[in-house]
Amino acid sequence: MKYTRQRGTRDILPSEIKTWQFLEDNARAVFEGYNYAEIRTPIFEQTELFTRSIGEDTDIVGKEMYTFIDKGERSITLRPEETAPVVRALIENNLIGQNELVKFYYVGPMFRYERPQAGRSRQFHQAGVEAFGSSDPLIDAEVIELGLRYFIQIGLKDLEVDINSVGCKKCRPKYKEELKKYFKGRSKDMCETCQGRLEKNPLRILDCKEPKCQKDIESAPATIDHLCQECGDHFNKVKAYLDGYGIRYKLNKRLVRGLDYYTKTTFEIISKSLGAQNAVCGGGRYDTLVEELGGRSTPAIGFAIGLDRLVMVMQDQKIKLPEEQRLQVYIAPLGAAAKEKGFEVLRNLRNMGIRSDMDYLGKSLNSQLKTADKLRAQFAIIIGDDELRNGLAIVKSMDNKTQEKIKFDEVIRKFK
Ligand code: HAM
Repeated sequence: MKYTRQRGTRDILPSEIKTWQFLEDNARAVFEGYNYAEIRTPIFEQTELFTRSIGEDTDIVGKEMYTFIDKGERSITLRPEETAPVVRALIENNLIGQNELVKFYYVGPMFRYERPQAGRSRQFHQAGVEAFGSSDPLIDAEVIELGLRYFIQIGLKDLEVDINSVGCKKCRPKYKEELKKYFKGRSKDMCETCQGRLEKNPLRILDCKEPKCQKDIESAPATIDHLCQECGDHFNKVKAYLDGYGIRYKLNKRLVRGLDYYTKTTFEIISKSLGAQNAVCGGGRYDTLVEELGGRSTPAIGFAIGLDRLVMVMQDQKIKLPEEQRLQVYIAPLGAAAKEKGFEVLRNLRNMGIRSDMDYLGKSLNSQLKTADKLRAQFAIIIGDDELRNGLAIVKSMDNKTQEKIKFDEVIRKFK
């Protein structure tokens, strides 16, 4: 029996791990630089958290969740995204007081049962931020600018920022009526999902990817033309701030995002190096979600970056990683007694925090030195019978191939 990984999942192998660590380390550094603090929530949650927040009629809840009944007969779902879990944790742990601003970030795997293709998998990884407590349009600008800062930091080029506003509870009902009116006359030519969404949640028709629905979606009324005064003013201010910071953006009237919780600003950052799945970051404001999930009314905004797609872009744009830290010492013992002495030296080196390893396979000197080269070790310490007898080790520089004999206790001093 040969086991294989599940469709839409991948093994991230040691050969690629440096790219992942680079992306994750930079996310942590950049987010912490903007005073966001890391939060880690469980991989699974009660299903209702997601159905209520993301919305029953969305693709995620309707088709893509990994949901199962556990042994206690509870309906459990592997998190398809992290905004709802962070909101749950915020409320459950009382993380925000009145008139406070709190900022969190996260890095981790998410799960969606999607049709796997380039840039779309069933287990994928996000790095995201969520800022709670401010409705100021300046924080919308901060969050968008933070996303861009991250991409600049990792050296990504050819990005486009798309923004839109999806309105609020005040302006959305009227807009929904407009949409219903518009699609009603056209519904017989639309796909089944869209027909089902028409009465329940017409906004979600705009997410449809079916070719036969595209023409009608393209000319449908846009949220942006139906904003109330407050949402319109808010959006104008966000744009003015972005203009002020020299951040170029494109107004994308079709950007309604596939999740129900958004209010006002929505945005995506697109990489022109990617194909169909080209959004490397998506986010927006969700001013009513905290209250809807049982907390005090708290405005909020955030985004999530898709790390798997970034790995693809990095390969495509041939972005160089910073030079790796090298193995400092490789110990090459010859014979059983030398191996034990070698291990003693190795322990002492490791006690001092020196990156070091040794041969455990009893190989010939030549192949041990080849291994040292392959591991890009700076030095090899060779210990044979002669060396043991004289209390000396051969310390060989793997870069310029010079070598010297050094007393065992001085070896440690040399590397100190
Ligand atoms: P989202 O647009 O669903 O938003 O996902 C954000 C990013 O995650 C996407 O732009 C994409 O890069 C990546 N992504 C999503 N699905 C997949 C997949 N199946 N395979 C690979 N990458 C994927 C959210 O998840 C929101 N929670 C973002 C947010 C935070 N809004 C406010 N705060």
